[in-house]
Amino acid sequence: MLRSKIVSTGMYVPPQIIKNDDLAKMMDTSDEWIRQRTGIEQRHWAADDTSTSDLAYEAALVALKNANMDKSEIDMLIVATLSPDHEFPGTACFLQKKLGVPGIPALDVRQQCTGFIYAMSIADQFIRTGMYQKILVVGAELQSKGLEKNDQGRDVAVLFGDGAGAVVMCATEVKDVKTDSHVLSTHLYADGTFAEELWVAAPGSGNSSDRIGTKEIEDKLHFPQMNGKTVFLNAVKRMPEALQAAFKQNELSIEDIDLFIFHQANLRINDMIAKQFNIPEHKVFNTIQKFANTTAATIPIGLDEAVRAGKLKKGMLVASAAFGSGFTWGSAVYRF
Ligand code: ACO
Repeated sequence: MLRSKIVSTGMYVPPQIIKNDDLAKMMDTSDEWIRQRTGIEQRHWAADDTSTSDLAYEAALVALKNANMDKSEIDMLIVATLSPDHEFPGTACFLQKKLGVPGIPALDVRQQCTGFIYAMSIADQFIRTGMYQKILVVGAELQSKGLEKNDQGRDVAVLFGDGAGAVVMCATEVKDVKTDSHVLSTHLYADGTFAEELWVAAPGSGNSSDRIGTKEIEDKLHFPQMNGKTVFLNAVKRMPEALQAAFKQNELSIEDIDLFIFHQANLRINDMIAKQFNIPEHKVFNTIQKFANTTAATIPIGLDEAVRAGKLKKGMLVASAAFGSGFTWGSAVYRF
């Protein structure tokens, strides 16, 4: 049976660490408020001369090295990001230029916090059909340049960090579904009814002036606007639903899963999901404390951190779920 599997992971975060106390110097917030409401202790912010594809490039090099693979072997690039280098072309094309791998398809996924699950699913489908064999899948975000770092923007600014994670996914012939490494399933969902509950409105053709004009800037439409409570309530409903769908399809129960690597939006969201399913604490791997919400990068960063921490080993069954802007949500179950 032809399936895809993750053969390696990699990650990169820029060196500058911003602690909660550093944010308290820029806006009316506190370490206590941020930790209590989100679990975040610090995040990394990139330097001014850095772009999202630079972060993606560094993570990609690590994943390629860990796969013992030359970049020329890759036959497709997928980059999930909500913070692209430029409006167009996609960040995957800038990554392609930096990697020096012209000719292969380069695809951007704009599914925000669920971007990596969507990207993994797309890679899985291309591999299952036999069209491609070795796909580099990257989640990368440079959020810090797009945050309103003052009192008005504090509800969003404290949540996000910069970073990138990458995996190499390859074709594999699965003989024993119970032991062989492979992606068992992906489940993808969206509900655009909630598109304006978490969004960046400008620039864009939906605006009345030149995609972004004085009015849009005065109204701060180029910064993220979020209805935090609606996001929270939907996340704790939709992520469990996506997991249930995966368990049902694969005839699995919670006990069968060795490790849960969820999207990192808020530690309270993940704690509530773990409680709902009775998942023991040691089976949930969180990284939000160190990196905050790196949106499309949280899951591949979690995978790489878990490998390096010795928590994720070959043959383990992993479940991931994510929820974010769109609203979009989804799950993936894979034997590592
Ligand atoms: N520091 C200090 N006080 C703050 C801050 C801050 N950074 N932000 C808001 N506050 C204040 C508010 O003004 C409010 O004050 P008031 O009571 O005087 O009006 C008070 O804190 C409580 O605010 P709430 O919004 O009620 O706080 P809540 O408990 O809902 O927590 C939070 C807010 C953390 C944003 C929560 O709603 C949440 O995590 N939501 C989910 C967000 C999320 O996951 N977003 C990312 C999805 S990612 C993606 O797709 C891009």
